[in-house]
Amino acid sequence: MILKDPTLSLRLAILLFLLGLANASPHKRDFGHCENVVKKWAASAPSLEVKEDKHTLRDLLFFLHIPRTGGRTYFHCFLKKLYPNALECPRSYDKLRFDPSKPRCRLLVTHDDYSMMSKLPKDRTSVVTILRDPVDRVFSTYEFSVEVAARFLVHPNLTSATKMAGRLRSKNKGLAVSTLDIWPWKYLVPWMREDLFARRDVRRHSGSRNVYGSDPYNMKDIVMPLHKYINDPIARDIIHNGVTFQIAGLTNNSYFAESHEVRHCVVQHKELGELVLEVAKRRLDDMLYVGLTEDHRESATMFADVVGAQVISQLRGSSSGVQTAATNKLEQSSLSDSEPDDEHSQNATLEFEVSTKENNEASKENMTVGKLMESYESCTSTLRKSQSQRRISSLKKIAPANFTKESRRQVGEAVLQEIKLLNNLDLELYEYAKDIFAQQHRRTTQKSAVTEKLENMISSSYGSSQWNCVFLFLPIILLLVFFILFVNARRRTSKVKI
Ligand SMILES: *[C@@H]1O[C@H](CO)[C@@H](O)[C@H](O)[C@H]1NC(C)=O
Ligand SMILES: *[C@@H]1O[C@H](CO)[C@@H](O)[C@H](O)[C@H]1NC(C)=O
Ligand SMILES: *[C@@H]1O[C@H](CO)[C@@H](O)[C@H](O)[C@H]1NC(C)=O
Ligand SMILES: *[C@@H]1O[C@H](CO)[C@@H](O)[C@H](O)[C@H]1NC(C)=O
Ligand SMILES: *[C@@H]1O[C@H](CO)[C@@H](O)[C@H](O)[C@H]1NC(C)=O
Repeated sequence: MILKDPTLSLRLAILLFLLGLANASPHKRDFGHCENVVKKWAASAPSLEVKEDKHTLRDLLFFLHIPRTGGRTYFHCFLKKLYPNALECPRSYDKLRFDPSKPRCRLLVTHDDYSMMSKLPKDRTSVVTILRDPVDRVFSTYEFSVEVAARFLVHPNLTSATKMAGRLRSKNKGLAVSTLDIWPWKYLVPWMREDLFARRDVRRHSGSRNVYGSDPYNMKDIVMPLHKYINDPIARDIIHNGVTFQIAGLTNNSYFAESHEVRHCVVQHKELGELVLEVAKRRLDDMLYVGLTEDHRESATMFADVVGAQVISQLRGSSSGVQTAATNKLEQSSLSDSEPDDEHSQNATLEFEVSTKENNEASKENMTVGKLMESYESCTSTLRKSQSQRRISSLKKIAPANFTKESRRQVGEAVLQEIKLLNNLDLELYEYAKDIFAQQHRRTTQKSAVTEKLENMISSSYGSSQWNCVFLFLPIILLLVFFILFVNARRRTSKVKI
């Protein structure tokens, strides 16, 4: 027998060992293997168990904040005005120690993906999110990476910039969280920062001739061009189809170890993306609210009507003892689009926190949908002003590169097509979200006119939203019934006459 030959059996063993290695290797992602991996994941993907009405707000509101969709406005100008600080959950699963039997917090706003749900009491959690046109989102991601990274150019070199970032971060610990701590910026900003410094060094050493061209998205002497950015492996892993991955729970930041192989498989074998897309669509279906960045005004109104109204009646119904607990603590501000990365922006953030705190806890108790919308208007305009000032001062540091609406329109068709190709799943998901949005819109406009007045009247005497529904619709249904009876009766009498 062959096994009697020791060298042969040794060779056989080595061969088997190598084969085994090849099989176990995470780099082996042939189609058959990937198909199994993705199918297995899709079949077991946990979704919300929608038992009762998905339009009813549950105990915990999970705002799945997709980067660069404008979610920060909703957080600061709606949710912060509704929820007392004490009811806010820590914003990442590293810090979230959830006791499913008694969730102490009621609001969770985070860039962490849907895999977060595994830490939450699923049947008592409502999810909301906002989607944006995928091409615009990629542009915005690029611009924000540059904007935040450019703030560091005040430093003489990369070493001192990185050191300063570290120092600021430890100084802020417990107070505010820097963009640099938050996914995806914790990868995108240092990458861009390193690149900006490298380009500046080259400019300095070569004695620049100041001929940069007129397209800010393609000024390679100053900043990484957009087409290079979108084709980098980091962008492929973190940015493209990022919305689908975030809603599917498959981002680079996912809580599940298996997620990474699924994502890599889908990036490598595009046809498997459909399976992921289906999961993401199902989850959008189950959400309490889906907003669109583009339809900003309608989205905000709908948010106030759908989410705001229910939060108001829910919190009114619950004990109000918690509301005074954490009011004196300086608010944590960790939502990424505005972070303290240098002294200037730190001041801006703190000023903003102070001004929002004037709308303090007391007014939350007497909140109505109407008041909510009113305060939202002034809040967003303040927020926009401070954001745009910060952006202008950051981009000054990479002049003459400046990202404006006009310059964006001049970006070539080839680059746009490339972005669309790289974000094929997100494009499809965005179309789907638009349908959901339209349905939502029909539902709320039918309701809202009557609701607002009645709800304010009723919710002061009845806390829970189920009661609201009953008391709202009972008179309407009764009226309808009477009307039908009346019409029938008239028809019968007129027939008799004939
Ligand atoms: C970077 O700048 C700091 C502060 O000016 C300086 O002390 C340091 O030597 C510089 N490092 C390099 C590598 O140039
Ligand atoms: C996420 O992406 C960054 C940047 O490409 C990388 O350094 C990191 O290791 C990735 N994390 C995972 C879990 O893949
Ligand atoms: C930040 O605020 C401090 C005091 O509040 C002020 O002295 C400093 O000039 C401000 N810095 C910027 C960059 O606005
Ligand atoms: C809220 O309503 C209560 C009772 O109606 C009233 O005493 C209180 O002053 C109101 N608070 C605010 C901030 O409007
Ligand atoms: C960039 O463009 C904005 C908007 O057009 C403008 O306000 C700003 O001054 C420009 N910045 C520079 C450095 O030219």
